[in-house]
Amino acid sequence: MYSKEFWFPPFLPSDDDPLHIFAEKHLSVLPASDWEVLAHYELPDTQRAELQALWWEHATDEYRALSQFSYLLADMLQVGAPLSWLGCASRLIRDETRHVALCVKAAAALGMDPSAQHFSAVRPNTDVTPMARIVRHMLTTVYCSETVALELIGWARERETIPPLKSVMTAILADESFHSRFGFLWLRDHWNHLDTVSRTTALDALPVALWRLSNGLPPILRPVADSAITGIILPALDSLGIDAQRAWEQRSETR
Ligand SMILES: [Fe+2]
Ligand SMILES: [Fe+2]
Repeated sequence: MYSKEFWFPPFLPSDDDPLHIFAEKHLSVLPASDWEVLAHYELPDTQRAELQALWWEHATDEYRALSQFSYLLADMLQVGAPLSWLGCASRLIRDETRHVALCVKAAAALGMDPSAQHFSAVRPNTDVTPMARIVRHMLTTVYCSETVALELIGWARERETIPPLKSVMTAILADESFHSRFGFLWLRDHWNHLDTVSRTTALDALPVALWRLSNGLPPILRPVADSAITGIILPALDSLGIDAQRAWEQRSETR
């Protein structure tokens, strides 16, 4: 019935598709009139093309997070995580689905044909136990990536001059703040009770993760990411007894 290839249906699907119902409900953060404003916004062709590409790139990033959190939830179910944590993790999936829908809708309002595009999911590396995967994920993706994303979106939002796009960023920003806190709280409650293999697996992945969060960005954004890492992430992890400073100093493209 389902293919093994994960993808997001072309936007917007027919009225009776569950995604359509979901999107209608959760896209209501922006009134229909705002999407109309965006669709008719006077922009030079080159800027319009750049914005289409940028918002499609945002949608791709959000889809990557959606797939990563979906696998995270599956691992959490497998190890018997308490329902309270499962409930929070499922909110992450719901939020990222909404973010994909918002970013695709923004790209479409700017004139892009989303049905001609395609997403690909991030498949989990199954080299370690489900618990070790969860810890690695909570440290590198849920806490570190979401915290950097939060700062980057905040930075871009302050500079955004097109009101409907600013509203989309505001909606996304509120959710990413929860995601970052979820990662921190999970680490705070679990780190000291974890087995050595799980902790080592997560710490081993940190230098590459931090390198990507900084060096993987265009030069203009790197200072924003670096200040989030050194000013927020490293002190927060240090308070939990996680030596992330060393990982930052040893950050590298490959292990
Ligand atoms: Fe997101
Ligand atoms: Fe997120």
